[in-house]
Amino acid sequence: MAAAAKIAPSMLSSDFANLAAEAERMVRLGADWLHMDIMDGHFVPNLTIGAPVIQSLRKHTKAYLDCHLMVTNPSDYVEPFGKAGASGFTFHIEVARDNWHELIQSIREKGMRPGVSLRPGTPVEEVFPLVEAENPVELVLVMTVEPGFGGQKFMPEMMDKVRALRKKYPSLDIEVDGGLGPSTIDVAASAGANCIVAGSSIFGAADPGEVILALRKSVEGSQNKS
Ligand code: DX5
Ligand code: ZN
Repeated sequence: MAAAAKIAPSMLSSDFANLAAEAERMVRLGADWLHMDIMDGHFVPNLTIGAPVIQSLRKHTKAYLDCHLMVTNPSDYVEPFGKAGASGFTFHIEVARDNWHELIQSIREKGMRPGVSLRPGTPVEEVFPLVEAENPVELVLVMTVEPGFGGQKFMPEMMDKVRALRKKYPSLDIEVDGGLGPSTIDVAASAGANCIVAGSSIFGAADPGEVILALRKSVEGSQNKS
């Protein structure tokens, strides 16, 4: 069975000073997940939020908090994020080549859903063992921009990775992140992505609910065709 469409507004593009209200607004407009971009200023040249903010937000929403950790030492953050109420914990393979087994296990032990992400320059084959492990990741996040900032241009050449993953793993959650919006979604959806992160295209729209709906329709339309 095809993995269900999940539309995940990237809260990086929201008004951080009104995070609880922004989260509530996105859920009301049809978001399935809230995508939380955690940046440490080392793995990427930008610094955003950490576990204390997740903890505060958790008091205001029951929504699935899809945490994307763009950090150099993901294992340091598993316990605090678990305690804070994160739902998904997606780490980058580039900083977990030696300890992904332990990392996946500890993420699950702390009650979160493990995922792995890869930068545009990282070959997709690197994540196959994590999906096929006895204790596997449940989501692969294919970056469609260089991680670090919202509002960048979608890289269509990353769709080869999405197609390769979808061919091997028909029911895996495959997420795309960076430059997604009404003008790029069809390419990603037809390649097989089912979890769609979108920041500037949703928050910058006159009608964000309409964008969320358009993203969902594209994913579901592609799934019905295949
Ligand atoms: C980039 C982040 C993305 C970003 C997406 O490093 O991982 O989640 O917020 O923003 P848009 O949709 O504006 O490209
Ligand atoms: Zn992200």
